[in-house]
Amino acid sequence: MREPNPSMRPVFSSKVVPVIVITHVEHAVPMAHALLEGGIDVMEVTLRHPAGMAAIEAIAKHVPHMQVGAGTVRHTDDIHRVQSAGARFALSPGFTDALVQAAMDARLPFIPGVMTPGELLRAQAHGFSLVKLFPAEQCGGLGMVKALNGPFADMQLCPTGGVSPANMQAYLREPNVAMVGGSWITPADAVARGDWAHITRLAQQAVALAA
Ligand code: 3PG
Repeated sequence: MREPNPSMRPVFSSKVVPVIVITHVEHAVPMAHALLEGGIDVMEVTLRHPAGMAAIEAIAKHVPHMQVGAGTVRHTDDIHRVQSAGARFALSPGFTDALVQAAMDARLPFIPGVMTPGELLRAQAHGFSLVKLFPAEQCGGLGMVKALNGPFADMQLCPTGGVSPANMQAYLREPNVAMVGGSWITPADAVARGDWAHITRLAQQAVALAA
């Protein structure tokens, strides 16, 4: 097993990571600007829609101040594809040794997903200190986060899944929570009607709650 380079852990200034499904590549750049305007300089563009890859490419090329990453990375090939598209980091909803190894080989900063103590042990064995807890609310929410802080106080979590303005502050108050992720900042209806001002307002609200 190879130890990850310390640079495998991405560094974010934002404590909120928007999780985004982009269905039309032309939404990518205005959305990135709207988030920056609202104080968020990181975005996880998921590979759940075929437009995701082109969206990452467009943001990387046209919005250099945005730290764009790829989400829903599930296959080793995805690592190389998103890196070529310009993603600066990748996240996965889960954990496989092959995926972790591919990210390490590519030297692409990576956040693996975990939901159990066993997966946390495996992530730690690979040298990771930051993992995505997914799906956070469904796997026990705040109670799970608190319980994991006993044996895994040296692991930092990014709870994602069911996080909202109503519960994000409670998560962020926990010592083992580095940041939270969620899709509420870029609602599909606002994106569809091109209401970028609304997305900026939601980003501002999230930043204020995270302060
Ligand atoms: C993810 O992929 O990380 C989640 O689907 C985001 O969960 P949410 O839609 O409940 O915020």
